[in-house]
Amino acid sequence: MERLVVISNRVAVPKARGVAGAQGGLAGALNAALKQHGGIWFGWSGQESESAADNIHLQRNDGVTTATIDLSSRDVDEYYNGYANSTLWPLFHYRLDLTQYERETGKGYERVNERFAECVTPLIEPDDLIWVHDYHLLPLGERLRARGIANRIGFFLHIPWPPTRLFVSLPFHERLVRTMLEYDLIGFQTDEWRESFLHYCRKELGAEVEEDSGAIMFEGRTTIARAYPIGIDWDHFQSQGESDEARAAEQRLLDSTRHRTAMIGVDRLDYSKGLPERIDGIGRFFDQHPDRVRDLVFIQIAPPSREDVQSYQQIRMLLEQKTGQINGARSEVDLVPIRYVNRGYSHAELYGFFRAAKIGLVTPLRDGMNLVAKEYVAAQDPDDPGVLILSRFAGAAQQLAAEGAGAVLVNPYSPDDIAHAIRVALDMPQAERKARYDVMIGTIRDDNVQAWTRRFCEDLAATRND
Ligand code: F6P
Repeated sequence: MERLVVISNRVAVPKARGVAGAQGGLAGALNAALKQHGGIWFGWSGQESESAADNIHLQRNDGVTTATIDLSSRDVDEYYNGYANSTLWPLFHYRLDLTQYERETGKGYERVNERFAECVTPLIEPDDLIWVHDYHLLPLGERLRARGIANRIGFFLHIPWPPTRLFVSLPFHERLVRTMLEYDLIGFQTDEWRESFLHYCRKELGAEVEEDSGAIMFEGRTTIARAYPIGIDWDHFQSQGESDEARAAEQRLLDSTRHRTAMIGVDRLDYSKGLPERIDGIGRFFDQHPDRVRDLVFIQIAPPSREDVQSYQQIRMLLEQKTGQINGARSEVDLVPIRYVNRGYSHAELYGFFRAAKIGLVTPLRDGMNLVAKEYVAAQDPDDPGVLILSRFAGAAQQLAAEGAGAVLVNPYSPDDIAHAIRVALDMPQAERKARYDVMIGTIRDDNVQAWTRRFCEDLAATRND
C-alpha cells in the first residue's frame, strides 16, 4: 500500500484529540484515515508566530505522524479569517450576503498555499499518494506541480460546491478552478456538489466533461470528479459508547430531564448550521402547543468557532437573543425549555447525550455532509431508538432520508416545518421509530470513514497522471 500524505488546514494535534471542541468532522475523519493507511499529516499547528517561519514540528502519536507549521498573524488574518472563512466559506454555503471579496486576503490565501507547498515538498517521497483537503487549499495541487511533484494528487472538498451562478461572483473564479484541474481526482460529499462542479467546468471553462465517469478533459490533462460521502468512525464511536464516561453522561442527562423528552442539537456555532432558524422553529412549536412545555427540553451544544470573524460574532449574539427570549417567556421556576451550552464535549460524552435524547435536531441551511446526524443515529438503542429530524439541505439527507424513510426531513428555513416535525417526533410510536432507524443504520455502519478512505485512495491510485 502506498504511503499517504494528507494535507489539511487543521491537524488534530494530540492535545485536542478526543475532544469534540469546535473541531468539526474533518479532523476526526483524517485521523482515522491515517491510522488505517499510515503516513504523514501536514498542516497548520493552529498557533501564530512571527519568527521561525519555516520550522516544521514533527510529532508521532498513535501511529500517526503529524507535521505542522505556525502561521504569522497576518497569514491567519488574510488566509484563514479572510479568504477561507469570509469569502469561500460563505460563498460555498450559498451566503452571498455574507461573502466579502478583498484582493488583499486573496493574495494572503495564495501566499499561504505557496508556503504549504514549500514546507511539505521535502516530506514527499516518489510513490506517496497525496491527499489535500478542503476549501483552504484549493490551489495547493497546482503549487505542488509547480515544484515538480509528479505523484498522484487527490483533493476532497468537505463542504458544498456552489451552483455556477453563485460561484461566478468570485473574482478570479476561473483561475481558481484551473488550479484545481491539476489534481488527478477531486472528491465531493454528494452528487449534487459534483454536478455543480462539472457544470462550471463545461460552461465556464469549455472543458470536455463525461458525466458518468466524471472525467474532465482540459488543456491536455484529465481530472476525475466523483462523490465520496464521508462516514463516521463506527468502531471507534461504538467503543466510546461502551465507556463509563458515556454511561455517566447518559445518566446525567436522563437524571436532569426526568419526565421530559430531551431533544438535542450539537453544532459548531456557525451560521450555516441554521441555529437561529432552529430556535424559531422551537418557539413556533411552543406557541402552537403551550401545554407541551413540560414535555420537552431542548439542549443545544454550540462550541464557538472562528470567533475573530464578524459574521460569527453576529450569529452568536442573535442566537443568545433568541434563546433568551424563549426562555424568558416560557420558563417556570423549576423549568427551562432551552439549555444553550457554549462548550465542546468528548466523543464519549456526546454518545451518552445522544442516547439519552429521544430527538436529534440537525437543521443546517446548507452542509457538505454533517456527521452529527450519523453519530446521533449510531448512538441510539436499536430497540427503542430516537428520531432524527434532518435538514433536506444537509449532504447526509441523500443517504439518510431516501424515499421518505429514515430521518424526518425538514426545510430548515420554515419554523412551521420544524415545529411540525418536532410534534411528529414526540408522538411517534416505537414501531415507526424502529423502522426509520433500521433504514439508516446499515449505511451509517458500513459506509464508514474507513470505507470512504479506501474508496478514495483506491480510485486515486488508479488514476493516470503521466
Ligand atoms: O469540514 C469543514 C471544516 O471547515 C473543516 O475544514 C474544519 O477543520 C472544520 O470545519 C472546523 O472549522 P475550523 O477548522 O475553522 O475550526
